[in-house]
Amino acid sequence: MKRASAVVACILAGVCLAAAAASASGKEIKIGLITPLSGDVKTFGESVKNSFLLAVEEANAKGGVAGMKIAYVIQDDKNDPTEAANVANLLINRHRVRAIVGAVTSKASIPVSDIAQAMKIPALTPTGTNPKITVADGKRKDYMFRSCFIDPFQGTVMARFSVETLKKKTAAVLYDASNDYSKGTAEVFRESFGKLGGKILAFEAYGKDDVDFSALLTKVKASGAEILYLPDYYSKVGLIARQAREKGVKAQFVGVDGWDSPDLVKIAGDAVEGGYFVNHYSPDDTRPEVQAWVRKYRERHGQLPDALGTLAYDGTRMLFEAIRRAGSDDPGKIRDALASIRDFSGVTGKMALDANGDAVKSAAILRIEGGRQKFVRTVNP
Ligand code: PHE
Repeated sequence: MKRASAVVACILAGVCLAAAAASASGKEIKIGLITPLSGDVKTFGESVKNSFLLAVEEANAKGGVAGMKIAYVIQDDKNDPTEAANVANLLINRHRVRAIVGAVTSKASIPVSDIAQAMKIPALTPTGTNPKITVADGKRKDYMFRSCFIDPFQGTVMARFSVETLKKKTAAVLYDASNDYSKGTAEVFRESFGKLGGKILAFEAYGKDDVDFSALLTKVKASGAEILYLPDYYSKVGLIARQAREKGVKAQFVGVDGWDSPDLVKIAGDAVEGGYFVNHYSPDDTRPEVQAWVRKYRERHGQLPDALGTLAYDGTRMLFEAIRRAGSDDPGKIRDALASIRDFSGVTGKMALDANGDAVKSAAILRIEGGRQKFVRTVNP
């Protein structure tokens, strides 16, 4: 693509976030990024965009991938499934991208995966953890990949931690019935906690637009549960945690990767202090790869990289590795090359890619202390 048409593409994209970094001459490969730059999880979107850009700039500074400069178009899915489907279609049909990084949340990635599959464009979600992104009704969507672990793992990790480390025997769970990620992790937690000898005293759903949780929290309080599992994104968790403490709920809060945002503490205040959640990595990890990455991201973006950003850096580089192996911009060949990657060593750790395109890798447990995330431990699969 020439520079002039890159500008047009970028104008067509609505917001002028796209910029083709490649030179006017030479071969290019165009890829799309789908990320929530507005809406209820916009810190996720920003982190992913920042890291994606770092990975692209690094690759282009080295002359591109397989002799091709990386050109890109970024689209905002607003963390909305319909919007995600629209922008996936736009990237494929209008911008003619050869591969997609995204979407970021499971909620947006599920519709994107169906479109990528139907259109035969390989897509890799760096962060979407719900199993349905890569497999639907027992059938593998073979154009879809990811660079993160899946929810059955993270739900089990927290159930185990609650019973074995926190030594708790009873739990309550509140989840968003309309979000597969929230509902899926809630169900896994319920099952694992039960198998480990714990008792679930309340298991209650809310709707995606709910803002008043008092009726549910009254039940949680009356149940006397020692643990309150909150598997949702930070904006909802912040509200629920705050209202729970206001209501006098004393339970220990525990949760999922969706808590990973500097805005959680801004919304919840002290209410989430002492809460534990499962994440994909910690910037406190002393591995040299992690520390080099933290330095690089900080220099460029002035803040610590969160798990989303770090996964996006890993995932984008994994896609580049596939393009390198394919030696071509042909979507089918890139797909085959992605499927051929069995191991990938990223900043978030070593991953083994299974037959479903899912990454098997370790998780980090973090604790909120003094409003900051503190690394507690690594849990291996
Ligand atoms: N796993 C979340 C989802 O599937 C997204 C997420 C990943 C959030 C990493 C925070 C950190 O929706």
